[in-house]
Amino acid sequence: MTVPELLEMKERGQPIVALTAYDASMAALMDEAGTDILLVGDSLGMVIQGHDTTLPVTLDQMVYHGACVRRGRSNALQIVDLPFMSTATEVLALHHAARLMQEGGAHMVKLEGGQAVAPIVAALTAHHVPVCGHIGLLPQAIHQLGGYQVQGRDLIAAERLLADALSLEAAGASLLVLECIPASLAKDITRRLTIPTIGIGAGAACDGQVLVAYDLLGISPHTPKFCRNFMVGAESIGDAFHRYVKAVRDRSFPAAEHSF
Ligand code: KIV
Repeated sequence: MTVPELLEMKERGQPIVALTAYDASMAALMDEAGTDILLVGDSLGMVIQGHDTTLPVTLDQMVYHGACVRRGRSNALQIVDLPFMSTATEVLALHHAARLMQEGGAHMVKLEGGQAVAPIVAALTAHHVPVCGHIGLLPQAIHQLGGYQVQGRDLIAAERLLADALSLEAAGASLLVLECIPASLAKDITRRLTIPTIGIGAGAACDGQVLVAYDLLGISPHTPKFCRNFMVGAESIGDAFHRYVKAVRDRSFPAAEHSF
């Protein structure tokens, strides 16, 4: 899987399938199931390390998990998250993105934020680092947001998110994660962008879907509203990943009950 191929999938209307991955064995199972994108998310701070937020995750830890996933994957495109405060300046962002690509197996890096981080995105892409943006619910901004709530519900917030999306695309982002926003807003953003959108709790009209693997396997203490437990009825973890890939491809997931 390559960055241009993801763009072609959007143009063909073929849903893109993404999952979070943190280790080699799971990455191999996800890859074998046909997952297009393996995201080494800083959600590992919560589901692997047991923290309440993603904030304690360090760049060294992202490099470590990225390298583990690199050894397990074969076909999927690998994205690795830039963790909290690692993009505070352009120089820091460039240095950290280089480590994720040179040591952490990343084909692309992801960072959270809208218009305010567009200059960072422009600096990274000018240095040949493919970038995935991330707007809507921003786990790294959890103490500003005050909780894990749906974003963009009112008109002003929705317009701000659309402006964020357009500014990230203009800055050179190749992909955009939309987290926990109303399905109608995600549909509008997806139509207005030429780059693919990948939704999590953002409805069925996004160009692709991503889930935290531990949520879809039912390992997390509770299954979020936007997730389905794909272990129910599955014979194995690999089978659950196959079922998820199939459900995203045939657009039976997410259903209305998984959307806001
Ligand atoms: O860290 C992560 O796993 C993510 C996904 C929830 C999109 O950013």
